[in-house]
Amino acid sequence: MFRLAHVSDPHLGPLPDVRLRELMSKRVLGWINWRLNRGRGGMRPAVLDDLVADLRAHAPDHVAVTGDIVNIALDAELEPARRWLASLGAGRDVSAVPGNHDAYVPGALKRAGEAWSAFMKGDEDPGETTRWPFLRRRGPVAVIGVSSAEATAPFMATGRFEPGQALRLADLLDHTAREGLYRVVLIHHPPAKKPIHWAGRLIGAERLREVIQTHGAELMLHGHTHRSTVEWLDGRGRPVPLVGVPSASRNPGPDRRGAGWNLFEIDGGPGRWRTLRIERGFRDAGSGLVEIARADLTPEAAS
Ligand SMILES: [Fe+2]
Ligand SMILES: [Fe+2]
Repeated sequence: MFRLAHVSDPHLGPLPDVRLRELMSKRVLGWINWRLNRGRGGMRPAVLDDLVADLRAHAPDHVAVTGDIVNIALDAELEPARRWLASLGAGRDVSAVPGNHDAYVPGALKRAGEAWSAFMKGDEDPGETTRWPFLRRRGPVAVIGVSSAEATAPFMATGRFEPGQALRLADLLDHTAREGLYRVVLIHHPPAKKPIHWAGRLIGAERLREVIQTHGAELMLHGHTHRSTVEWLDGRGRPVPLVGVPSASRNPGPDRRGAGWNLFEIDGGPGRWRTLRIERGFRDAGSGLVEIARADLTPEAAS
């Protein structure tokens, strides 16, 4: 059995001191948003620390992180974010893809990719450059990381999936299927049929759904929505579960769920893979981290 953890959208805080020059961009909106919301109890570092401790106690074989690691992509956010990724495990055991907040302004994505390259590059990518999507083989699992992140205009949080990544993704999915691997695709923005909000949609979602339908995958993990969800995409022969998690920092309320993460237990072999999803998180402010639910995501069992 291979055990894969999924955590997303920590939006690591607190924000470091910001130079005025750095706010002369879209960042000023994110900074205001942080001051009004995330920095004032919407998200809490202590919650994230508890979540990471819980995740580590389960000793997964691999950890997937699907973006929005930082908030407004300041240079001063990069090193704390690298240390946080390292707190989850060594580079070979942690795979991350960027979110829109990691690419908040032009140039930010490149700097993040360099700072976090230990967690964001394929096994065969040379140096610190990542070819998107990247491919990492870990035991019976192929971890395929897609980047949907790009700098956008103010008030926009869209992602993009372009033909270049579609071609390479199709190729990687075919290749790893022939190797008999269990294919997990990571992306920040979900290719949902009905996006949660227009300003945060994935441009090219249909293109991505077509790739999955034609070439198949066993599991797709995303962030961005900050919600615990399972949707099914058409796959090749078998439908593909598309799974989202809450923000890893979300403060629980008296009767409101908080941060959460998923543990996937992967078993079986080509043509008969089985996937069990164990959902852990804060049921409410008083609960601490508990098991919220477990569900068989094997298509035959789930449908
Ligand atoms: Fe987010
Ligand atoms: Fe996002």
